[in-house]
Amino acid sequence: MTHSANSQADRLKGRDWLMTQDWSDDEIELALETAAKLKTEFRNGVHTLHLPHKTIFLIFFDKSTRTRNSFEAGITQLGGHAHFIDADTSQIAHGESPKDMGIILSGYGHGIAIRHDLVPGEGQSYMREVARWASVPVINMQCDVDHPCQTLADLMTIREEFGKDLSELKLAVSWAYAPSYVKPMSVPQGLIMLMSRFGMNVTLAHPPEYTLMDEPLRLARENAARSGGRFEVVDNMEDAFAGADIVYPKSWGVESLYGQPEEAMKVAQKYRGWICDEQMMAGASERAIYMHCLPADRGSEVTDAVIDGPQSRVYPEAENRMHTAKALMALTM
Ligand code: CP
Repeated sequence: MTHSANSQADRLKGRDWLMTQDWSDDEIELALETAAKLKTEFRNGVHTLHLPHKTIFLIFFDKSTRTRNSFEAGITQLGGHAHFIDADTSQIAHGESPKDMGIILSGYGHGIAIRHDLVPGEGQSYMREVARWASVPVINMQCDVDHPCQTLADLMTIREEFGKDLSELKLAVSWAYAPSYVKPMSVPQGLIMLMSRFGMNVTLAHPPEYTLMDEPLRLARENAARSGGRFEVVDNMEDAFAGADIVYPKSWGVESLYGQPEEAMKVAQKYRGWICDEQMMAGASERAIYMHCLPADRGSEVTDAVIDGPQSRVYPEAENRMHTAKALMALTM
């Protein structure tokens, strides 16, 4: 990196990444530019050893494929190393406090990343408490409120498709039926908070039981008003998809029923018809792309014809998880 590029990048050293809302538009822009550069360098086989001998601790309270592996591969490519910490097999399971985790892990390394996404009211608070005591940056790998690593990769993917000016685009974020497990609320919440900042017209669709948390809804409205975009909520997938340029149908749970999976599934089964199929896609714009953070319930959230079809961008989207994770680590650690 040049001297001026270095000073620009250094402004984020030590910063936490807990919600996209905590970073300014310029800071998000810097993260996206850094991710794009790292992506090109990765594809060209250029070594990017920006974090030699540095350690990040990855604490997981939930399962993961993309997040764990994008961070582990990413830190290796940056010259550092990741420690995987399973909350269930560490002393967290015996009640070790977020304060102790923050202080102790800060003494061993250079960054802490946390996934704590399945209990409404807990994940974001836990991370903020770790961050209060940690002397190294804390990264949110998905909480109850936001999945900022996912939505940053999504924004990168959308910009690769449509360019930097997103102001004329319509994004449909819709609930969809999934029987596999009760999925967190943080992806739709993160999407409506982040995409509304860039002038997009964001439409959220869900059955009545699946309302999102108050704060992300408030921020989506406020961001849209500030950016000149629009944010609206409808009660069916068809209206959300009408003329949409980007469709993002996925499942999430009823806020009051996390921890009661059988009750939650009873509610979900009323809405088995909420699937993204070719007929649903036909209502979107001709240039529409289909996105999903994955894992997707094939045959329930989406048909194979759509997720494997020409409009699907799920694999570039998943790939961008690594480039954005690397950018966040390189900038903050
Ligand atoms: N999209 C996402 O966060 O994937 P994982 O749950 O596999 O990490």
